[in-house]
Amino acid sequence: MDYAGTIKQILTKLSPPPTVYLHSFGCRQNVSDGNSLLGKILDMGFAETDDINTAALIIYNTCAVRESAEKKVLGIIGELKHIKENNPDVIIAVCGCMVQQPQIIELIKNSYRQVDFCFGTFAYDKFPELLYNALTDRNLRFQYDITEYKNEYSNFNLHQEDNERAEIPIMQGCNNFCTYCIVPYVRGRERSRPIGDILADIKTLADKGYKEITLLGQNVNSYGNTLKPPVPFSKLLKRAAEVEGDFILRFISSHPKDMRKDVIDVIADSPKICKEIHLPLQSGSNRILELMNRHYSREMYMEIVKYAKKRIPGCKISTDIIIGFPGETEYDFEQTIDIVKEAEFSHLFTFIYSKRKGTKAALMEDKTTDLQKRIRMTELISVQRKIAERRENEIK
Ligand code: 5AD
Ligand code: SF4
Repeated sequence: MDYAGTIKQILTKLSPPPTVYLHSFGCRQNVSDGNSLLGKILDMGFAETDDINTAALIIYNTCAVRESAEKKVLGIIGELKHIKENNPDVIIAVCGCMVQQPQIIELIKNSYRQVDFCFGTFAYDKFPELLYNALTDRNLRFQYDITEYKNEYSNFNLHQEDNERAEIPIMQGCNNFCTYCIVPYVRGRERSRPIGDILADIKTLADKGYKEITLLGQNVNSYGNTLKPPVPFSKLLKRAAEVEGDFILRFISSHPKDMRKDVIDVIADSPKICKEIHLPLQSGSNRILELMNRHYSREMYMEIVKYAKKRIPGCKISTDIIIGFPGETEYDFEQTIDIVKEAEFSHLFTFIYSKRKGTKAALMEDKTTDLQKRIRMTELISVQRKIAERRENEIK
């Protein structure tokens, strides 16, 4: 049955159309998934609203990367109980990374009875069916779908939130299994979109007048490994920059273990590619990097930074740092401070380690107290602030 088409037929009879409120949490990949879903919902005949109190359909697209993100969503969907009490016909759905975890489905099923259905990161195509069931059977109690469908990530809707800046996913999933990270568990293995599809999307957006296009992936540097024949990321980047139009290109995120010189050379040689690279370091300690399963050393990382700065004049490099990974000692942390001073990042995103059930690091002993982690975080931020101030003064 064509559920999306059937819903559309039903909704065209309504005037004004019912409204949808959709909010995404987490990384830009997740926000992009949310926009793609919203595009499909608007195609079905819903109108978008930012007033949650009058929406006929409420969707929260969730993140699982840190516990704080999950707690926030659970707090919000807890509050939706009142909305459901006032309007039993409102349909409430929760999707994305957080609900890909079976223990979260159990929790929602048992303790958040206002939620009508949940669907995971593989089940976007099942959304119309779940919605149709909820729309046509009020007695239905809680549906969910977290099956790991073997989709090739082709069913992407180019709907964008903004008129100037656009985002295009080039791949899904991750194969790296960094020991702290939930992503490979909630988004599955790496799948790349065909280069032709991506270039066609860039052309469509460029023709519409978008000024900034960001290519998204959990590890863009391993783009194309699953394609037949494989396509290196540097080739995609070069071809993308050759698409006609007045736009600049960005991409996130890179994994230092896969960041090769050919990519840096393409950035250097193409005026259309933004001279900023986000290169998550995570830790400056080789011992911790190994425990994290990152497959590079601080020396290898600095080699890339030096090459990028030499090859691309004025190149900005930003990074992510995790503080308080299990077993991180004062010495390990000093190593991080050291490399932060040496690399002179344009921006630092700092995160206190969050234990994620099912990951390898969750089983590692963690003796560092919360207080110690907070002190380290404050120190790191203050080191970075001094670097930024010094650089600003140099520019003046
Ligand atoms: N705890 C804290 N930070 C994490 N990140 C990923 N997993 C965790 C975790 N368990 C951070 C990493 C990553 C960024 C997107 O989030 O620094 O690069
Ligand atoms: Fe993005 Fe990871 Fe959060 Fe999912 S869990 S939304 S992939 S940061």
